[in-house]
Amino acid sequence: MATASAPGKIILFGEHAVVYGRPALAVPVTQVHADVEVADSPRAGIWIHAPDIALHAELASLPPDHALGAAVRSVFAALGVSPFPPLEIRITSTIPVASGLGSGAAVTVAILRALSSMIHSPLSNGEINSLAYEIEKLHHGTPSGIDNTVVAYARPVYFVRGQPIEPFKVGAPFTLVIADTGISAPTKESVGDVRKLWEADKPKWEKVFDQIGEISEAARTAIERGKTDELGPLMDSNHALLQTLTVSSPELDHLTEIARKSGADGAKLSGGGRGGNLIALVEKYNAAHIAESLLSAGAKRTIITEIA
Ligand code: PMV
Repeated sequence: MATASAPGKIILFGEHAVVYGRPALAVPVTQVHADVEVADSPRAGIWIHAPDIALHAELASLPPDHALGAAVRSVFAALGVSPFPPLEIRITSTIPVASGLGSGAAVTVAILRALSSMIHSPLSNGEINSLAYEIEKLHHGTPSGIDNTVVAYARPVYFVRGQPIEPFKVGAPFTLVIADTGISAPTKESVGDVRKLWEADKPKWEKVFDQIGEISEAARTAIERGKTDELGPLMDSNHALLQTLTVSSPELDHLTEIARKSGADGAKLSGGGRGGNLIALVEKYNAAHIAESLLSAGAKRTIITEIA
Protein backbone atom coordinates (compact mmCIF):
# COMPACT_ATOMS: atom_id res chain seq x y z
CA MET A 1 0.00 0.00 0.00
CA ALA A 2 1.13 3.60 -0.57
CA THR A 3 -0.29 6.90 0.62
CA ALA A 4 0.38 10.55 -0.21
CA SER A 5 -0.97 13.89 0.88
CA ALA A 6 -0.79 17.31 -0.79
CA PRO A 7 -1.70 20.67 0.75
CA GLY A 8 -4.12 23.34 -0.43
CA LYS A 9 -2.71 26.68 -1.49
CA ILE A 10 -3.58 30.34 -1.73
CA ILE A 11 -2.33 33.01 -4.05
CA LEU A 12 -1.11 35.98 -2.01
CA PHE A 13 -0.58 38.37 -4.93
CA GLY A 14 -0.67 38.39 -8.70
CA GLU A 15 -3.49 36.09 -9.84
CA HIS A 16 -4.70 36.60 -13.41
CA ALA A 17 -1.72 38.85 -14.28
CA VAL A 18 0.40 35.70 -13.80
CA VAL A 19 -1.31 34.16 -16.84
CA TYR A 20 0.23 37.06 -18.84
CA GLY A 21 3.78 36.57 -17.59
CA ARG A 22 3.73 38.78 -14.49
CA PRO A 23 5.04 37.44 -11.16
CA ALA A 24 2.75 36.06 -8.48
CA LEU A 25 3.27 34.80 -4.94
CA ALA A 26 1.60 31.70 -3.55
CA VAL A 27 1.89 29.68 -0.35
CA PRO A 28 0.75 26.21 0.74
CA VAL A 29 -2.12 25.93 3.23
CA THR A 30 -1.55 22.78 5.23
CA GLN A 31 -4.80 22.98 7.23
CA VAL A 32 -6.56 21.53 4.18
CA HIS A 33 -5.24 18.65 2.07
CA ALA A 34 -5.94 15.95 -0.49
CA ASP A 35 -5.09 12.37 0.48
CA VAL A 36 -4.65 9.34 -1.72
CA GLU A 37 -4.32 5.71 -0.74
CA VAL A 38 -3.32 3.05 -3.28
CA ALA A 39 -3.59 -0.69 -2.60
CA ASP A 40 -3.22 -3.89 -4.64
CA SER A 41 -6.56 -5.15 -5.86
CA PRO A 42 -7.83 -8.74 -5.98
CA ARG A 43 -9.96 -7.86 -9.04
CA ALA A 44 -8.87 -6.81 -12.54
CA GLY A 45 -8.50 -3.14 -13.51
CA ILE A 46 -7.74 0.09 -11.71
CA TRP A 47 -10.60 1.21 -9.53
CA ILE A 48 -10.90 4.84 -8.52
CA HIS A 49 -12.95 5.74 -5.46
CA ALA A 50 -13.60 9.40 -4.74
CA PRO A 51 -16.47 9.30 -2.22
CA ASP A 52 -16.59 13.13 -1.95
CA ILE A 53 -17.83 13.30 -5.55
CA ALA A 54 -19.63 9.91 -5.45
CA LEU A 55 -17.23 8.42 -7.99
CA HIS A 56 -16.53 4.68 -8.01
CA ALA A 57 -15.30 3.75 -11.46
CA GLU A 58 -12.88 1.59 -13.36
CA LEU A 59 -10.20 3.65 -15.11
CA ALA A 60 -11.11 2.39 -18.61
CA SER A 61 -14.70 3.65 -18.17
CA LEU A 62 -13.57 7.27 -17.64
CA PRO A 63 -13.30 9.64 -20.62
CA PRO A 64 -9.73 10.65 -21.63
CA ASP A 65 -10.22 14.22 -20.35
CA HIS A 66 -11.39 13.11 -16.89
CA ALA A 67 -8.83 14.75 -14.59
CA LEU A 68 -8.57 11.86 -12.09
CA GLY A 69 -8.24 9.21 -14.79
CA ALA A 70 -5.77 11.37 -16.72
CA ALA A 71 -3.60 11.76 -13.60
CA VAL A 72 -3.49 7.98 -13.12
CA ARG A 73 -2.70 7.32 -16.79
CA SER A 74 0.02 9.98 -16.85
CA VAL A 75 2.03 8.25 -14.08
CA PHE A 76 2.05 4.95 -15.94
CA ALA A 77 2.91 6.67 -19.23
CA ALA A 78 5.76 8.63 -17.60
CA LEU A 79 7.18 5.51 -15.99
CA GLY A 80 6.57 3.23 -18.99
CA VAL A 81 4.39 0.82 -17.01
CA SER A 82 2.27 -1.47 -19.19
CA PRO A 83 0.00 -3.33 -18.70
CA PHE A 84 -1.43 -1.45 -15.72
CA PRO A 85 -1.37 -3.43 -12.44
CA PRO A 86 -4.72 -4.07 -10.69
CA LEU A 87 -5.16 -1.36 -8.03
CA GLU A 88 -7.71 0.30 -5.78
CA ILE A 89 -7.17 4.08 -5.50
CA ARG A 90 -9.01 6.00 -2.81
CA ILE A 91 -9.08 9.80 -3.03
CA THR A 92 -10.36 12.11 -0.30
CA SER A 93 -9.92 15.83 0.19
CA THR A 94 -10.75 18.48 2.76
CA ILE A 95 -10.05 21.26 0.23
CA PRO A 96 -13.24 22.99 -0.95
CA VAL A 97 -13.54 22.70 -4.76
CA ALA A 98 -13.65 25.63 -7.19
CA SER A 99 -12.82 28.12 -4.46
CA GLY A 100 -9.23 29.14 -5.18
CA LEU A 101 -7.60 26.74 -2.72
CA GLY A 102 -5.97 24.56 -5.35
CA SER A 103 -8.11 21.47 -4.83
CA GLY A 104 -7.58 20.15 -8.37
CA ALA A 105 -3.81 20.51 -8.20
CA ALA A 106 -3.62 18.91 -4.74
CA VAL A 107 -5.66 15.87 -5.79
CA THR A 108 -3.49 15.46 -8.88
CA VAL A 109 -0.20 15.79 -6.98
CA ALA A 110 -1.34 13.30 -4.31
CA ILE A 111 -2.37 10.78 -7.01
CA LEU A 112 0.96 11.14 -8.84
CA ARG A 113 2.95 10.73 -5.62
CA ALA A 114 1.01 7.80 -4.21
CA LEU A 115 0.95 5.85 -7.48
CA SER A 116 4.61 6.39 -8.30
CA SER A 117 5.66 5.26 -4.84
CA MET A 118 3.28 2.27 -5.06
CA ILE A 119 5.22 1.07 -8.10
CA HIS A 120 8.54 1.81 -6.38
CA SER A 121 9.52 4.64 -8.76
CA PRO A 122 8.90 7.78 -6.71
CA LEU A 123 8.89 10.85 -8.95
CA SER A 124 10.84 14.01 -8.05
CA ASN A 125 9.01 17.25 -7.18
CA GLY A 126 10.00 18.60 -10.60
CA GLU A 127 8.60 15.55 -12.42
CA ILE A 128 5.40 15.70 -10.35
CA ASN A 129 5.10 19.40 -11.15
CA SER A 130 5.43 18.89 -14.93
CA LEU A 131 2.89 16.06 -15.02
CA ALA A 132 0.48 17.99 -12.78
CA TYR A 133 0.69 21.00 -15.10
CA GLU A 134 -0.62 18.86 -17.98
CA ILE A 135 -3.58 17.78 -15.83
CA GLU A 136 -4.21 21.39 -14.72
CA LYS A 137 -4.91 22.19 -18.36
CA LEU A 138 -7.95 19.90 -18.15
CA HIS A 139 -9.23 21.83 -15.10
CA HIS A 140 -8.38 25.37 -16.17
CA GLY A 141 -7.89 25.63 -19.93
CA THR A 142 -4.84 27.95 -19.97
CA PRO A 143 -3.37 27.70 -16.48
CA SER A 144 -0.25 29.64 -15.58
CA GLY A 145 1.08 26.64 -13.63
CA ILE A 146 1.22 28.42 -10.27
CA ASP A 147 -1.21 26.04 -8.53
CA ASN A 148 0.62 22.82 -9.41
CA THR A 149 3.99 24.45 -8.60
CA VAL A 150 3.17 25.60 -5.08
CA VAL A 151 1.35 22.34 -4.31
CA ALA A 152 4.07 20.07 -5.77
CA TYR A 153 6.88 21.84 -3.88
CA ALA A 154 4.73 22.58 -0.80
CA ARG A 155 6.59 25.80 -0.05
CA PRO A 156 6.11 29.53 -0.70
CA VAL A 157 6.90 30.35 -4.33
CA TYR A 158 7.56 33.44 -6.40
CA PHE A 159 6.23 32.30 -9.73
CA VAL A 160 6.75 33.59 -13.25
CA ARG A 161 5.20 31.52 -16.00
CA GLY A 162 7.78 29.46 -17.91
CA GLN A 163 10.64 30.27 -15.52
CA PRO A 164 12.28 27.94 -12.98
CA ILE A 165 10.60 28.12 -9.60
CA GLU A 166 11.97 30.53 -7.04
CA PRO A 167 11.12 29.72 -3.45
CA PHE A 168 11.14 32.88 -1.31
CA LYS A 169 11.86 33.26 2.36
CA VAL A 170 9.49 34.71 4.89
CA GLY A 171 11.43 37.24 7.00
CA ALA A 172 8.81 37.43 9.74
CA PRO A 173 5.69 35.27 10.12
CA PHE A 174 2.29 36.82 9.40
CA THR A 175 -1.27 35.70 9.93
CA LEU A 176 -4.05 35.44 7.37
CA VAL A 177 -7.73 34.75 7.67
CA ILE A 178 -8.95 32.87 4.61
CA ALA A 179 -12.70 33.23 4.17
CA ASP A 180 -14.88 31.33 1.74
CA THR A 181 -17.81 33.13 0.08
CA GLY A 182 -19.37 29.71 -0.42
CA ILE A 183 -19.87 30.57 -4.08
CA SER A 184 -18.22 28.05 -6.34
CA ALA A 185 -16.75 29.81 -9.35
CA PRO A 186 -14.81 27.93 -12.02
CA THR A 187 -11.42 29.56 -12.64
CA LYS A 188 -11.71 28.61 -16.32
CA GLU A 189 -14.57 31.14 -16.71
CA SER A 190 -12.94 34.11 -15.01
CA VAL A 191 -9.67 33.42 -16.86
CA GLY A 192 -11.62 33.23 -20.14
CA ASP A 193 -13.44 36.50 -19.42
CA VAL A 194 -10.16 38.29 -18.64
CA ARG A 195 -8.82 36.99 -21.96
CA LYS A 196 -11.80 38.52 -23.79
CA LEU A 197 -11.17 41.90 -22.12
CA TRP A 198 -7.47 41.70 -23.00
CA GLU A 199 -8.16 40.76 -26.61
CA ALA A 200 -10.49 43.75 -26.99
CA ASP A 201 -7.95 46.29 -25.66
CA LYS A 202 -4.48 44.86 -25.06
CA PRO A 203 -2.63 48.13 -24.19
CA LYS A 204 -5.17 48.98 -21.48
CA TRP A 205 -5.05 45.59 -19.76
CA GLU A 206 -1.29 45.13 -20.16
CA LYS A 207 -0.96 48.26 -18.02
CA VAL A 208 -3.17 46.73 -15.35
CA PHE A 209 -1.12 43.50 -15.45
CA ASP A 210 2.06 45.61 -15.07
CA GLN A 211 0.62 47.29 -11.99
CA ILE A 212 -0.29 43.92 -10.48
CA GLY A 213 3.20 42.60 -11.28
CA GLU A 214 4.75 45.59 -9.49
CA ILE A 215 2.59 44.84 -6.44
CA SER A 216 3.83 41.22 -6.41
CA GLU A 217 7.45 42.42 -6.59
CA ALA A 218 6.93 44.91 -3.77
CA ALA A 219 5.17 42.27 -1.68
CA ARG A 220 7.99 39.77 -2.15
CA THR A 221 10.54 42.34 -0.97
CA ALA A 222 8.38 43.27 2.03
CA ILE A 223 7.84 39.61 3.00
CA GLU A 224 11.53 38.75 2.68
CA ARG A 225 12.52 41.76 4.80
CA GLY A 226 9.89 40.95 7.42
CA LYS A 227 8.08 44.25 6.73
CA THR A 228 4.64 42.74 6.95
CA ASP A 229 3.06 46.13 7.76
CA GLU A 230 3.58 47.00 4.07
CA LEU A 231 1.47 44.06 2.89
CA GLY A 232 -2.01 45.33 3.87
CA PRO A 233 -2.05 48.33 1.51
CA LEU A 234 -0.57 46.15 -1.25
CA MET A 235 -3.43 43.68 -0.79
CA ASP A 236 -6.01 46.46 -0.99
CA SER A 237 -4.44 47.83 -4.20
CA ASN A 238 -4.26 44.35 -5.72
CA HIS A 239 -7.95 43.80 -4.91
CA ALA A 240 -8.88 47.11 -6.56
CA LEU A 241 -7.04 46.08 -9.74
CA LEU A 242 -8.80 42.70 -9.70
CA GLN A 243 -12.09 44.60 -9.48
CA THR A 244 -11.23 46.48 -12.68
CA LEU A 245 -10.49 43.09 -14.27
CA THR A 246 -14.13 42.18 -13.38
CA VAL A 247 -13.13 39.12 -11.38
CA SER A 248 -14.39 40.30 -8.00
CA SER A 249 -18.06 39.95 -7.00
CA PRO A 250 -20.46 41.76 -4.64
CA GLU A 251 -19.84 39.07 -1.99
CA LEU A 252 -16.04 39.32 -2.27
CA ASP A 253 -16.22 43.13 -2.12
CA HIS A 254 -18.56 43.02 0.88
CA LEU A 255 -16.45 40.53 2.83
CA THR A 256 -13.13 42.27 2.09
CA GLU A 257 -14.75 45.49 3.38
CA ILE A 258 -16.01 43.72 6.53
CA ALA A 259 -12.50 42.33 7.13
CA ARG A 260 -10.97 45.82 6.89
CA LYS A 261 -13.67 47.35 9.14
CA SER A 262 -13.09 44.62 11.74
CA GLY A 263 -9.41 45.47 11.94
CA ALA A 264 -7.65 43.61 9.10
CA ASP A 265 -4.65 45.50 7.71
CA GLY A 266 -5.71 44.65 4.15
CA ALA A 267 -7.80 42.17 2.19
CA LYS A 268 -8.19 40.83 -1.32
CA LEU A 269 -9.79 38.04 -3.26
CA SER A 270 -7.50 35.07 -3.86
CA GLY A 271 -7.42 32.87 -6.95
CA GLY A 272 -9.76 32.98 -9.92
CA GLY A 273 -12.32 35.20 -8.18
CA ARG A 274 -16.09 35.79 -8.79
CA GLY A 275 -16.56 33.61 -5.70
CA GLY A 276 -14.26 31.32 -3.79
CA ASN A 277 -11.97 32.72 -1.15
CA LEU A 278 -10.61 36.01 0.06
CA ILE A 279 -7.63 36.56 2.30
CA ALA A 280 -7.26 39.16 5.05
CA LEU A 281 -4.00 40.16 6.70
CA VAL A 282 -4.56 40.27 10.46
CA GLU A 283 -2.73 40.57 13.74
CA LYS A 284 -2.59 37.21 15.48
CA TYR A 285 -4.51 38.41 18.55
CA ASN A 286 -7.33 39.72 16.33
CA ALA A 287 -7.61 36.75 13.94
CA ALA A 288 -10.45 34.93 15.73
CA HIS A 289 -12.48 38.14 16.05
CA ILE A 290 -12.08 38.98 12.33
CA ALA A 291 -12.95 35.40 11.36
CA GLU A 292 -16.12 35.66 13.48
CA SER A 293 -17.08 38.96 11.84
CA LEU A 294 -16.64 37.40 8.40
CA LEU A 295 -18.80 34.41 9.37
CA SER A 296 -21.53 36.73 10.71
CA ALA A 297 -21.38 38.69 7.44
CA GLY A 298 -22.02 35.57 5.37
CA ALA A 299 -18.68 33.77 4.91
CA LYS A 300 -19.32 30.03 4.86
CA ARG A 301 -15.99 28.93 6.34
CA THR A 302 -12.81 30.51 7.61
CA ILE A 303 -9.27 29.23 8.09
CA ILE A 304 -6.69 31.06 10.19
CA THR A 305 -3.21 30.32 8.91
CA GLU A 306 0.26 31.56 9.77
CA ILE A 307 2.70 32.06 6.90
CA ALA A 308 6.14 31.30 8.24
O1 PMV B 1 -8.56 29.83 -8.73
P1 PMV B 1 -7.20 29.31 -8.48
O2 PMV B 1 -6.74 29.43 -7.10
O3 PMV B 1 -6.95 27.98 -9.09
O4 PMV B 1 -6.16 30.32 -9.13
C1 PMV B 1 -6.14 30.64 -10.42
C2 PMV B 1 -5.10 31.68 -10.62
C3 PMV B 1 -5.22 32.40 -11.94
O5 PMV B 1 -4.14 33.30 -12.00
C4 PMV B 1 -6.52 33.17 -12.02
C5 PMV B 1 -5.16 31.42 -13.11
C6 PMV B 1 -3.81 30.77 -13.29
O6 PMV B 1 -3.76 29.77 -14.00
O7 PMV B 1 -2.80 31.26 -12.77
